[in-house]
Amino acid sequence: VAGAGGGCNDVQWCFSQVKGAIDDDVAEADIISTVEFNHSGELLATGDKGGPCQPAPVPRGVQRVQAPSRATNPSSDYLKSLEIEEKINKIRWLPQKNAAQFLLSTNDKTIKLWKISERDKRPEGYNLKEEDGRYRDPNTVTTLRVPVFRPMDLMVEASPRRVFANAHTYHINSISVNSDCETYLSADDLRINLWNLEITDRSFNIVDIKPTNMEELTEVITAAEFHPNQCNTFVYSSSKGTIRLCDMRASALCDQHSKMFEEPEDPNNRSFFSEIISSISDVKFSHSGRYMMTRDYLSVKIWDLNMETRPVETYQVHEYLRSKLCSLYENDCIFDKFECCWNGNDSVVMTGSYNNFFRMFDRGYRQDVTLEASRENSKPRSVLKPRKVCTGGKRKKDEISVDSLDFNKKILHTAWHPLDNIIAVATTNNLYIFQDKLN
Ligand SMILES: *[C@@H]1O[C@H](CO)[C@@H](O)[C@H](O)[C@H]1NC(C)=O
Ligand SMILES: *[C@@H]1O[C@H](CO)[C@@H](O)[C@H](O)[C@H]1NC(C)=O
Ligand SMILES: *[C@@H]1O[C@H](CO)[C@@H](O)[C@H](O)[C@H]1NC(C)=O
Repeated sequence: VAGAGGGCNDVQWCFSQVKGAIDDDVAEADIISTVEFNHSGELLATGDKGGPCQPAPVPRGVQRVQAPSRATNPSSDYLKSLEIEEKINKIRWLPQKNAAQFLLSTNDKTIKLWKISERDKRPEGYNLKEEDGRYRDPNTVTTLRVPVFRPMDLMVEASPRRVFANAHTYHINSISVNSDCETYLSADDLRINLWNLEITDRSFNIVDIKPTNMEELTEVITAAEFHPNQCNTFVYSSSKGTIRLCDMRASALCDQHSKMFEEPEDPNNRSFFSEIISSISDVKFSHSGRYMMTRDYLSVKIWDLNMETRPVETYQVHEYLRSKLCSLYENDCIFDKFECCWNGNDSVVMTGSYNNFFRMFDRGYRQDVTLEASRENSKPRSVLKPRKVCTGGKRKKDEISVDSLDFNKKILHTAWHPLDNIIAVATTNNLYIFQDKLN
């Protein structure tokens, strides 16, 4: 399959780092729920599902991802993490305005703004405090000393700055920071709210699809995102497989969309599961803002913002599951919400699958590849071998049959470094970092 000079099959992905327990016994609190690089890619934030009764979201870890060119020792643990466990659904970095860095996190109901700071020095030699923090009796202090900074291991710290509460009745599924750097949106099953980053006690409702009579409810909002450079434009996707583009200049309440993207259903493919599998689990604008990508249960679609009638590209993620929809319905996997992401220059897209497989689609070269995140090939610098799922007929060596795929192992969240071929892939409770071997 490997073509000469370019496509995603020519990149050799190799193992770089894995975080998390080896244990197969996964606690709810250890399930990774989001991964997000900061805008230049040096920091990677992750969140987890936390305990059931935790009131407000705290990022699980903010980790430094050393660009490989600068990594002195690739096996050294350069992912420094701080671990505080509370449930998180989404994390979004704010564009950097000054030396300080901020991110937004959300759980089902509450959004929080965090200040992220890094420390590699620690003050020592206080007059009224011991090094371990205990206070000294002032009467014992006979001389004054000048405290000094001493180097220490790099620490990343997150401190809560603002809490945006009480604006959502249903579960928040998305937050998205606007390109104006002043506002952001938050979306739940039925409503989308617009916030000013400075104001915590007020938000504006910009979409409300709640019917007067809840029994008439046929559609819910599944994801929403601001356009990367038009601050008046945002999109939201629905459980019926539609994407609506709204213009905030048109009216204060954007219940009337300005564009609606929807692919007409192929009548030959109609089945009991049609509506469930067409539900969109993620929508992401390309960096350029010209395209958007949506993920539904079986495929990834690329839409040109100038064409509403059908996607310009469709990539099958695991079409072999079409014959398994009945059992995937019975074990609830059919409701899994897979996310998708673009690489730095929008030429490749990535999304997850079952059996800890993840897929990449090279748009220009029309190539695709299936890779696996597993402990078995997590030796330093070991190259990931492309995997192949065999669908009926004779199984070749190195192929895995559809019937032996493990549906408990799934990759829902992935992130691509904005500048380099470095990816973060979250299996249920492990975070893997892979990178281009050339690096
Ligand atoms: C990302 O994080 C690094 C490390 O803290 C920082 O130097 C950089 O400015 C951040 N990038 C942006 C765009 O915020
Ligand atoms: C219909 O199903 C076939 C395979 O069974 C698939 O290749 C095709 O993309 C599907 N069409 C649509 C519109 O989803
Ligand atoms: C996009 O970036 C990849 C490396 O990340 C590179 O191989 C490819 O040539 C780039 N494509 C374009 C169109 O610039």
